[in-house]
Parts: sequence; C-alpha cells; structure tokens
Amino acid sequence: MEIPKRLILDQTAIARRVRELGARLSQDYRGLEPVLVGVLKGAFIFLADLVRALEFPVEVDFVRLASYGAGTQSSGEVRITKDVETPLTGRHVLIVEDIVDAGLTLEALRRHLAARQPASLKICCFIDKRERRQVEVPLDYVGFIVPKGFLVGYGLDCGEKFRTLPEVYALDSG
Ligand code: PRP
Repeated sequence: MEIPKRLILDQTAIARRVRELGARLSQDYRGLEPVLVGVLKGAFIFLADLVRALEFPVEVDFVRLASYGAGTQSSGEVRITKDVETPLTGRHVLIVEDIVDAGLTLEALRRHLAARQPASLKICCFIDKRERRQVEVPLDYVGFIVPKGFLVGYGLDCGEKFRTLPEVYALDSG
C-alpha cells in the first residue's frame, strides 16, 4: 500500500495522548461503570487503544450510522444502521468517535442516545476538525485539534483505503 506523504500525527504522539485521555477518564468515571459507545467503523482503533488505557472496567458497545456521502449536500438526516444493544437508561454513556467534521453525525447520535435517558451523556473524539463544522456539538474529551485536511489512518479512511495505518496522514499536499 502506498503511504500518503504528509504525516500529521505519529505513533508516539498518538500513544501519549491516548494515555493522557485514559488517565482523565479514569479520574472522571471511576466507580460509574460507564458504557463506551464506539461509532463504526472509524472509531474502532481509537476505542481499542482507549479502553486499554483505562484503569477501571467499562462496557463497550457500537453504533453505525449511514454516511450522507461525499459531495452530497446533507439535509442533516443521519440514519442509524446498527443501534446500541445495551440498555442505556440510567447509565453513564460516553460516545467514542474518531473524527468530528461537520458535526452532523455526532449531533444526530447525541440526540438519538439522549432519548434513552442515560444518567450522563458525554463525547470523546480523537480528532476535532473544525474547518467544515456546521453544528456545534459539545466535545468533552478531545485527542487532537487539527484545523483542516483530508485525514486518513488510525481508523480514518478514504474509500476504505488507509484505515489501518498506525499514524494519521493528510492526503492533500497542504
Ligand atoms: C466519518 C467519521 C465520523 C463522521 C464525521 O464516518 O468517522 O463518524 O464521518 O462526520 P461529520 O462530523 O461531518 O458529520 P464515515 O461516515 O466516513 O464512516 P466510517 O467511520 O465507517 O468510515
């Protein structure tokens, strides 16, 4: 596989930040038995690293949302194609997302999960990319702020390519 040229986050920086997030979450959630909800597919690598940086046990579940597709003007409608299976009422829920771009996906998911009446609902995202933000979603834990660029690697893909790279790269020349 040809590797994109512009490195944005290397493995050392990613591992350090995931450890820091894990330590913060361990302080904030200890004793609360939270449910971590990973957003497929992109978040599976971040979630896998994050849960192993936690100093307490958690439950893990997943959702999948239908992408509104590249080049399509979004109506803001996001369809859930695989829902969470764990009962969330009264639970402390933490959404784990790989990247927040326009914010539409996360806002739709937040509303969807809030309807289950969890005890708390917070968001942890690996990359906050603000260039194309349309909806302000409250992000409680953020790995990195990256202003712009088409990012791939560490779960992020371009037409399913590059998702498994251990670093984050930008595809544009920047
Ligand atoms: C990406 C990413 C987020 C979402 C962000 O997923 O993983 O879930 O888009 O979009 P937004 O903030 O602009 O609404 P994608 O739909 O590409 O699916 P994937 O995770 O399966 O690759």
